[in-house]
Amino acid sequence: MEVVILAAGMGKRMRSALPKVLQPLAGRPLLAHVLASVRALGAGRICVVYGHGGETVRARLDAPDLVWAEQSPQLGTGHAVQQALPQLSDGEQALVLYGDVPLIGVPTLTRLSEAAVDTQLAELASMTVELDAFFGTQVGTHAVTKLMRTQAKLALLTVELDDPTGYGRILRDASGRVTRIVEEKDATHAERRVREVNTGILSAPVARLRDWLGRIGNHNAQGEYYLTDIIALAVADGVEIVTVSPATVAETLGVNSKAQLASLERVYQASIADQLLDKGVTLIDPARLDVRGELVCGRDVEIDVNCVFEGRVELGDGVSIGANCVLRDVHLGAGTRVAPFSHLDSTRTGEACAIGPYARTRPGTVLGNGVHVGNFVEIKNSKVADQSKANHLAYVGDADVGERVNIGAGTITCNYDGVNKFRTVIEDDAFIGSDTQLVAPVRVGRGATLGAGTTLTRDAPPDALTVSRSPLQSIARWRRPVKQA
Ligand code: UD1
Ligand code: CA
Repeated sequence: MEVVILAAGMGKRMRSALPKVLQPLAGRPLLAHVLASVRALGAGRICVVYGHGGETVRARLDAPDLVWAEQSPQLGTGHAVQQALPQLSDGEQALVLYGDVPLIGVPTLTRLSEAAVDTQLAELASMTVELDAFFGTQVGTHAVTKLMRTQAKLALLTVELDDPTGYGRILRDASGRVTRIVEEKDATHAERRVREVNTGILSAPVARLRDWLGRIGNHNAQGEYYLTDIIALAVADGVEIVTVSPATVAETLGVNSKAQLASLERVYQASIADQLLDKGVTLIDPARLDVRGELVCGRDVEIDVNCVFEGRVELGDGVSIGANCVLRDVHLGAGTRVAPFSHLDSTRTGEACAIGPYARTRPGTVLGNGVHVGNFVEIKNSKVADQSKANHLAYVGDADVGERVNIGAGTITCNYDGVNKFRTVIEDDAFIGSDTQLVAPVRVGRGATLGAGTTLTRDAPPDALTVSRSPLQSIARWRRPVKQA
């Protein structure tokens, strides 16, 4: 099977500089959703028809399995598919999709594709390919291909809508056979009453498509080459038209405006929430969850409201995430608790860590087991080993922190001299007093204590107290300044 994805539309109603098919749904471009489904289907060649802003689309999503066909000017859906024809092979079945219909599901596409081919012939074909390969010939394949070409059907994905306004209507004869599709603008009053509509998604034999598209015209209300006109030609050629309906209507909804984009986002998020609930995850409010990537949860995971998950996030057994957290590319070990308003990015933790509220971990943060990262603590590119704690107001950057270390409030690793970055090493059981600056590169020995307020500019020896502190004075007869007249 070969795939054509129509993505040349301007998307004017989005009122955005970003091409429509690059607008994000769940953090990924609309077109990326369609491509993911197509790839899951195991399609052969995938041809994307692009137009307005197409170079940006191509630059963003190009991949070895894609071919690109430019359509300019844009003269309609039939004209768009025509641009892809040089990339398609006769003898294959073509699946036509829209780049702005992001929620189309793999099971629906599978049913549509299967409906288009005679299943017995398809089996015969795959057997023949093997036999031909064995005998080093192509005779059988040619024969079966020819047979399939004459037997192949045209499969349409259609839905019944309460309000079919704007869509092409599926017209059937007295015995229920599809005769043609009429666009809303070309339809009579009676035809507009038909509630079965064309979703635009169809599957047809490439060779036939080539022939039909060569014969369509643009004498219609919009002066466009309509892909939908191939239906009447197929009927005239005696090709059977089969219709398939999607598992859910949302699968066939297109995005033409920010309002439609927002509503499909909620549909998508609701389905993710349902899947998580099915797997036993506790969601305090399934309507207040956003997964923009992949969220994998163990047993007894609890997620409070308004959390955003980006990239790949793995939450171990018994993990709990407080309200209003953002987690991107994170792995949390079992029993770890993240308190509200924390932001974790490219971070791994061991088991039973306590993070937040208001914690920020940046890329390269690796925490051991039982580590505490409290409020207004920022950690970057650092390892913090088992049972260590930084409970309040600290910056730990480019550091290697051992086990059972206590990092006092206001501690800062001074890792940057304005040009270069340096590492700080804090060995096991060290105690870093409050408001301490560790001027890297520097090492704090095992069991060392740094007195509060120390500015550490050389290594601190193990087991000793190291303190830098200006002498304390009390001036008895000192007077506060008074306001000048
Ligand atoms: C089309 C169908 C209509 C169907 C509806 C479903 C035709 C003639 N009509 O109508 O029966 O009910 O979709 O949404 O096919 N595109 C191009 N190049 C073009 C024109 C369109 O690539 O020259 C792409 C668009 O980017 C979009 C898709 O084709 O992804 C559909 O285009 P759109 O203008 O939305 O089609 P409709 O007129 O809504
Ligand atoms: Ca449309």
